[in-house]
Amino acid sequence: MKSLFEPESIAVVGASSDSRKIGHIVLNNLIQSKFRGKLYPINPKADEILGLRAYPSLTAIPAEVDQAIVCVPNTLVPSVMEEAGIKGVNSVVVITAGFKELGKEGAILEKRVGEIAKKYGMRVLGPNCMGMMNTHHCMNGTFTNIQPVSGSVAIASQSGAVCSSLLDWSTATGVGFSTFISVGNKVDVDEADLLEYLKDDPNTNVIGMYVEGANRGRELVRQAREASKKKPLIILKSGRTSSGSKAASSHTGALSGSDKVYDAAFRQANAIRVNTIDEMFDLLQVFSNMPLPKGDGLAIVTNAGGHGVMAADACSDHGLTLASFEKETIDKLKGYLPEAANCYNPVDVLGDASADRYEFAIKAVMEDPNVSCVAVLLAPLDTVDISAVASNLATFAGNVDKPVVGAFVGGTKTDAGIKLVQEANIPCYDSPDRAIRSLGAMVRYRKMRDSAGDDAPVVMEGDKQKVREMIDSVLSTGRTSMSESEGKEILRAYGVAVPEEITCATAEEAAAAAARIGFPVVMKIDSPDIAHKSDVGGVKVGVSSEAAVKAEFELMVSKVSARVPGAHINGVTICQMVKGKEVLIGMTRDDQFGPVITFGLGGVFVEIMKDVTQSIAPLTRTNVDTMVRSIRSYAILTGARGGKAADIESLKDVIFRIAQIALDFPEISELEINPVMVGDEGKGTYAVDALVVLRRDN
Ligand code: COA
Repeated sequence: MKSLFEPESIAVVGASSDSRKIGHIVLNNLIQSKFRGKLYPINPKADEILGLRAYPSLTAIPAEVDQAIVCVPNTLVPSVMEEAGIKGVNSVVVITAGFKELGKEGAILEKRVGEIAKKYGMRVLGPNCMGMMNTHHCMNGTFTNIQPVSGSVAIASQSGAVCSSLLDWSTATGVGFSTFISVGNKVDVDEADLLEYLKDDPNTNVIGMYVEGANRGRELVRQAREASKKKPLIILKSGRTSSGSKAASSHTGALSGSDKVYDAAFRQANAIRVNTIDEMFDLLQVFSNMPLPKGDGLAIVTNAGGHGVMAADACSDHGLTLASFEKETIDKLKGYLPEAANCYNPVDVLGDASADRYEFAIKAVMEDPNVSCVAVLLAPLDTVDISAVASNLATFAGNVDKPVVGAFVGGTKTDAGIKLVQEANIPCYDSPDRAIRSLGAMVRYRKMRDSAGDDAPVVMEGDKQKVREMIDSVLSTGRTSMSESEGKEILRAYGVAVPEEITCATAEEAAAAAARIGFPVVMKIDSPDIAHKSDVGGVKVGVSSEAAVKAEFELMVSKVSARVPGAHINGVTICQMVKGKEVLIGMTRDDQFGPVITFGLGGVFVEIMKDVTQSIAPLTRTNVDTMVRSIRSYAILTGARGGKAADIESLKDVIFRIAQIALDFPEISELEINPVMVGDEGKGTYAVDALVVLRRDN
């Protein structure tokens, strides 16, 4: 990877004297950026390009070549790759388009590029990319002539267009970039590789990524988690909606996985996910220029009450609190500001505030121990000298130990002021909400980073042998779905408590079983062909006598047979009735991320309420804590409105056990327990149902 980021020499294959061609522009950009290593233009028809000696091929160069940038038409790329391999080139950047984004034939060509790279042990960036820059290595190996300011933000983007927008924005705001990588189709180097490098790059303090789809989801999560321990990682993932995903697939041939899974993945990796490019810009500004806040107390200094109130409202939306000032701070403000000014938070320095008044208030609140960050708001009243306030705010650059941001709210009158503040490396926005949201992201990141210590996945023991035999036996009969009782056997083998139950073939057997278990009982149809029993009349709760059991047996069998003709019915299961709060625990398998564990409010309304959360297995204690706490109905589990608290510890234990089953048996493609009954504290958690679906391909 070092040869990609810091090559000692670069050959541009397809360099041209024609200034309109990409091969010319790339070579010219490398020269203009004052690349310090050796540069070799490769062109079979030229002796010299842009003042540099040209060579007909890579192998004709009489020296070692660290990196090759390829700008020849797609059909020529495999032969250039072969040549690079023979030459001993370490990394290749393939700018050429016309690969898997074009369909089947392009995909075959791309596969060949990947195979050749592997054969020779070369790393490949692209194809179908803009190339890469490293401002600290004086290297612009792209075909864009926008040269960003050198700085501490590393950007990796799957879209060339997003790349150019970010570059243009960087020159407008003065946010400096360390490296800039257009990843293209990712035949080899992907985001996970880049994170592995960037997390230790001393020139990079913030990482921003635009992602359409991940190649190696689990590795991406692993590297992202490592990187975000060291520096903030901001990810803009498009394809949130199904139409967005479709556009992403046709864009670079990426398969965007289910968006909820990406959400879970980024959350577990402590990455900050943003939804729009504006938000990405806003967060890059604040993270690259400001120190992290130590707490969540915000001070607002404003010349307009309305904006102050809006900023205060935005606080709770973005995880900040309005700091309450020490008496000393209030006295200090009262001593300096006019009588009509508000010296409590938000501090209103009044419409006619001078730059000095702003400065005094900012300094006073900054010194307050309850304040961790400051937002300076300005409305373009005729009485305010915007450029004076902006120049004054600019003087805080580089000498603050708490983040300070501006929000100059307007348009024509405020634009120049915003620019002035930004050029001084103080984040400045055009609305209170953007300012507060950006500070909120910093607070969130600091909290995530500080609590990221617990990384060890929890491992559970189970009777592997028994489950393996069960799965093999079910698959050998040609079935892929297990009956409820088979599913429960699996759960039992992994230490999940299930209510006592007896499957009975006749009404008489059922009555006797119920008497043995004790009334009331639950009756459930037992059939491998029915996934959702209650939908077809296959569940009856609270049956409380032998006579009632007999009658319900006959009724249930006939009802279910009528509703699901042809279903094989083994009988009816008589179950011990357990009490508790109904939750759901499930598992699906994602192609990119592997087993995804779902937890949420259970029962028949689960699909309507959608009060569920997901995490990717293996799970750590923090993951499961976060899962359980994050559902809207968490208060029900802790004992809302005088109810008893549920046995949350035993619930977590079951979540870990389900994750373990998923990890141990890749053949299980889906598993769902709904409901899981969480008893009162100390009473345990029972799996009342079990749906297990297998797949054959493993
Ligand atoms: N080795 C070195 N140079 C070679 C060569 C070889 N084997 N074969 C041909 N060349 C030369 C050509 O002679 C030409 O030089 P010239 O101008 O002196 O004649 C040069 O390489 C370029 O080849 P050309 O056929 O003119 O291609 P091009 O410049 O029109 O297009 C690409 C090449 C790569 C730019 C084009 O195929 C492409 O993919 N464009 C899209 C790029 C893109 O959008 N990428 C994604 C961005 S996000």
